[in-house]
Amino acid sequence: MTDRRLAVVGATGAVGRTMISILEERNFPLADLRLLASARSAGSRVQTRWGELEVEDLERSDLSGTDLALFSAGAERSRNFGPKFVEAGAVVIDNSSAFRRQPDVPLVVAGVNDHAIASHRGLISNPNCTTMALMVAAGPLHHRAKIEHLVATSYQSVSGSGMQGIEELSRQTRELQSNVDALIRGGWEDPGAEVYVRPIGFNVLPYAGTETENGYTDEEWKLVNETRKILDAPGIEVEPTCVRVPVMVGHSVAASIHFSRPVSREEAIEVLQTAPGGDLWLDRVPTPLDAVGRDEVLIGRVRSTMDGEGVNLWVAGDNLRKGAALNAVQIAELLS
Ligand code: A2P
Repeated sequence: MTDRRLAVVGATGAVGRTMISILEERNFPLADLRLLASARSAGSRVQTRWGELEVEDLERSDLSGTDLALFSAGAERSRNFGPKFVEAGAVVIDNSSAFRRQPDVPLVVAGVNDHAIASHRGLISNPNCTTMALMVAAGPLHHRAKIEHLVATSYQSVSGSGMQGIEELSRQTRELQSNVDALIRGGWEDPGAEVYVRPIGFNVLPYAGTETENGYTDEEWKLVNETRKILDAPGIEVEPTCVRVPVMVGHSVAASIHFSRPVSREEAIEVLQTAPGGDLWLDRVPTPLDAVGRDEVLIGRVRSTMDGEGVNLWVAGDNLRKGAALNAVQIAELLS
């Protein structure tokens, strides 16, 4: 792998920070690293294994001289600046939803559909964090027996909403915990919310994302559209429900999968044992806390569906790692 000039756009965010750690952990061969964020953070300094770096203001930065740009600064910044970086000669790996549905932009889960990278024209999209975790298990199963029907219910952590989500859960937990009795008997005081429609502290929100078509949220549509694109199977029927849970990091999904033919629990286990990027737990229950800080998506609770024809399973993955930063870095590694 040749040394590349790399930029992290959104370097001060939850995913951006994880991108820097993962580049460090994997000793990514860099000729140069630039950190970009908003004017709010411009001038702040970040200690990295490549020295102390000053954060630049994206709006004012010179876009030339970058080979690879890892974007995680929200879809608007990706739409505004992604194509400009490409014009200036960079390959952009984008963690936002901005380009995921464009037919000429590959949507890649490293280890599942690496071949899709070959057709890129400067932009490559990183899938949504929930879909990503599920694909680590569903991808190899699909390659074995062609998935036809997938019911997926997510249990998504607040870091999926960035630093603001983390701060909202921390604050609400502190405030609500000051009156545990009210949480048990009722009469709790609304701690006020900025990020979510209802309190997330000590609660569960069966509504992750923002509403779009037919009462489904954008997060739910991502599960439908991105599953189809990643598996190159536009006919897969996906029934999604996305739920936000009071977990800092780690997205989980309970999935019920039917295939073009019956698949036994034993066959599913045989496939999942070698799922790239997966770690099958047969004797322990994988939870998001177990997944935090790990590169592998944990897979467990593998059962035959009640009709005996399909497979029920559970995945839990670090949404900042495989769900976002790690996969972006893995795509960068595949490009070399
Ligand atoms: P900043 O920290 O300067 O606001 P998260 O979703 O975890 O909050 O992270 C969002 C990332 O996107 C942060 O690095 C944030 O920078 C960056 N960002 C947000 N708005 C802009 C903007 N207008 N221009 C550049 N970067 C932005």
